[in-house]
Amino acid sequence: MSDRKPLLDVLRGEARAIPPIWLMRQAGRYLPEYQELRAKAGSFLDTCYNPRTAARITLQPIERFGFDAAILFSDILVVPDALGQKVWFESGHGPRLVPLENDSDIDALSGSFDIGKLAPVFETIDRVKGELPSSVAFIGFCGAPWTVASYMIAGRGTPDQAPARLFAYRRPEAFAGLIDILVEASVAYLIRQIDAGVETLQIFDSWAGVLPPQEFERWVAAPLKKIIDKVKEARPGVPIIAFARGGATHLPGLAETLGADALGLDTAIDPVWAAEHIPAGPALQGNLDPLALLAGGAALDREIDSILQSFAGRPHIFNLGHGVLPETPLEHVSQLIERVRRAGN
Ligand code: CP3
Repeated sequence: MSDRKPLLDVLRGEARAIPPIWLMRQAGRYLPEYQELRAKAGSFLDTCYNPRTAARITLQPIERFGFDAAILFSDILVVPDALGQKVWFESGHGPRLVPLENDSDIDALSGSFDIGKLAPVFETIDRVKGELPSSVAFIGFCGAPWTVASYMIAGRGTPDQAPARLFAYRRPEAFAGLIDILVEASVAYLIRQIDAGVETLQIFDSWAGVLPPQEFERWVAAPLKKIIDKVKEARPGVPIIAFARGGATHLPGLAETLGADALGLDTAIDPVWAAEHIPAGPALQGNLDPLALLAGGAALDREIDSILQSFAGRPHIFNLGHGVLPETPLEHVSQLIERVRRAGN
């Protein structure tokens, strides 16, 4: 068997007739084998910090579907947890944190990052890397500062991130302090993931799309660039995928300034527009609608084909525009992979 990894080839700038494929949230609730392990493992955070279980969950979608990459099973909110903010998950309600309310709450986080708390994550990486098929790449990740801060300020997921946006307008200096703390913690965390064995990284800025241009520049683009620069300075050669969901018209600029090896595209981006307007440089990743995957049938085939066609000839990684939905039928995922792998024939 070849030990070439198609995902890494594309991240190095190679266009492949059959694009490598993985899916955001490929390890998760749509898999019965995930539900089974989760039911035994205690809380969601306990699951993330149980290396044996987290490693098995990371491998489940590879074993079932043969994706071209495995993504570490963990969560973006382990970083606030390691900063000493109380984080927990309530089933049916998503994440909860004790919200940061004033400047002194933020000051208290400075210098508090306890990377030792994340030792189980590095142990998970160590366990997974020995078990991956030789063609499968291993992706580590973190949340981007803006997205993570939006949970830290609100204490929960919010539809429009209004609490963090208001905080940033009212007390920009304090908010900048929080972003800096998250930049530093994320850099240290990503470097340790590389040292433990991941081969590429994705930074998730899931809520990048709610900010007006100047705020986007300050809280999304600049911190992402800082993280990418620092990680690349410390560990050159490890490719980085930046996913600024909702980044829209910012994407052509990000392609030139961020220094990312790939840009993730969300569902709302027209692939034809992207192929035309995003300058060559980074590979493009995406961007099937998770609801088309849930729907299946002819609509799914049509959406897959139009994405394949739009990115043909460019370095492209097939993915969704956001995470797999829990109700997604397993057969639709098989249908997707088969159709993508028939591309170019
Ligand atoms: O398979 C993978 O993609 C790897 C694991 C992964 C998870 N979360 C597991 C998870 C990754 C990369 C994430 C990233 C993450 N976490 C993001 C960024 C990507 C995105 O989806 O926008 C965000 C915003 C979070 C925070 C988070 N974690 C929320 C809002 C929720 C609740 C919503 C939900 O889907 O339940 C989680 C929980 C979570 N993270 C689950 C999983 C599998 C479900 C937990 C369960 O088993 O009940």
